Amino acid sequence: MRIPVSRDRAALLVLAASVLACSDDSARSADDAGSSSASAADDAGSTTDPDATTGSEPADSTGGVASGPTYYQDIAPVISERCSGCHTPGGAAPLVFSDYEATAPLAPLIASQLMSGAMPPWPPGGETPPLQHDRSLTDDQLELMLAWAEAGAPEGDASNPAPLVPPEVIELPSHDVATDIGTDYVADASISDDYHCFMIELGTTQDHVATGYQFIPQNTKTVHHVLSTVFTAESIAAIQAVDDETPEVGWPCFGGYSNIPGGDPVGALGGWVPGVTASNYPAGTGTMIPAGAVVVAQIHYNTLGGTDPDRTRLDLAFAPAEQEDELVLLHTSGMPWPGFMIPAGDADYSTEKEARVSVLLNAGLAADDTGYVMGFAGHMHKLGVEIELSLVAEDGSESTLLHIPKWDFGWQGAYSLVEPIRVVGTDRIKLRCVYDNSDEHRAAQQMGPTEDVTWGEGTADEMCLGYLQVVDVLPGG
Ligand code: HEC
Repeated sequence: MRIPVSRDRAALLVLAASVLACSDDSARSADDAGSSSASAADDAGSTTDPDATTGSEPADSTGGVASGPTYYQDIAPVISERCSGCHTPGGAAPLVFSDYEATAPLAPLIASQLMSGAMPPWPPGGETPPLQHDRSLTDDQLELMLAWAEAGAPEGDASNPAPLVPPEVIELPSHDVATDIGTDYVADASISDDYHCFMIELGTTQDHVATGYQFIPQNTKTVHHVLSTVFTAESIAAIQAVDDETPEVGWPCFGGYSNIPGGDPVGALGGWVPGVTASNYPAGTGTMIPAGAVVVAQIHYNTLGGTDPDRTRLDLAFAPAEQEDELVLLHTSGMPWPGFMIPAGDADYSTEKEARVSVLLNAGLAADDTGYVMGFAGHMHKLGVEIELSLVAEDGSESTLLHIPKWDFGWQGAYSLVEPIRVVGTDRIKLRCVYDNSDEHRAAQQMGPTEDVTWGEGTADEMCLGYLQVVDVLPGG
């Protein structure tokens, strides 16, 4: 859950400011402290100036510390539940919080990462409604972690540890397709980020409704994300022609994994980022996988993690044939593209587009139809800094569907709502994308000097895409 706007938030900021002030992790912590305090205070809409109040509430913060949280009694369970899915040996994250000795010295760094919102990685924020598999800490967990760091990372009673909570593991109900990218791919070591597309044949001979999927990278040190699109069997020749343009299996691709000349995409399967296990579609729903369909998967290899080969697997679960008719099909509908030209040097360029639900590509809803939004995703490239999808009702009232206040290309994902949102065909969806084309931001994104930027699939181009997962009736309804 997101941290609600409250005075507790202000108290947390005071606590964080003092943790960071005591931190001896020199320059980087000081930087993080500055930016996190400022942005968190903005979020809270609070008038509290964290710097000014650092010393003003000592009774609150030190009062809690005397009997405060300890590693064995309070912290290890939080780390196990919320961090160990990624911070594990051989996992995507560089640090392993294996035991007290390994974790205690990192307490100031952990506190700064928690306060800046960088960890645990969970980009949605703002007014985004509750989402499934939210990785954020609860208020209580955050407070425990910060109080523990502030108190100097006390060990507690090792002989009487609190039970550990395992990280969430989602399993597929069945593995009706078990396949892979078809090669032991060695990422291109001459670049730090290799985006490579693969055509994955599923080998099916009849239509199926998938209820879940799972990408399983074999080299979790280099695979940073996977995005995918399902294409009809008739698209295979067109996809193969693109693949054949380069000698290796698959082809280099950055933004173009769903745009194959002559290809016929039928929808999105879904993606993968570190920490994700299987992804099941909402109960009672599924995605149509036509006979002989293929999946095009874009895999982002970060070669700073080495160049050991990877053979990412893809497993799919299909609904049993006798249940197919009871399932509601998910439509992946795309927003029309907004136009833009991001001028060189513009550090705050935004573009937006509104469209009625009834004209959304593939939404399947006529003007007077009712449907439900089950989930959504946004996509930009590396100049993107913020993206928002909102719902504008006929009376003009606007509500947020998805807001990513700090876009991070490496953590893009698709999100499922806890409660589906009802829409009518005449409602409008608004997509807003914000970009920073300054030299500073470009340098941070390992891009060259600023220049005008337009729509395109390359790393130097930009995109602004919004997807909605829509059903026309609620499952079971
Ligand atoms: C979904 C995966 C994931 C989860 C969950 C996660 N981390 Fe991380 N963490 C990463 C990755 C990957 C990195 C490496 C930096 C990056 O890619 O952002 C990282 C880096 C870090 C760093 C080092 C930052 C630096 O600049 O050196 C700290 C500290 C950290 N995480 C703390 C935590 C804590 C504490 C939790 C749990 C509350 C947590 N992380 C949960 C994936 C995760």
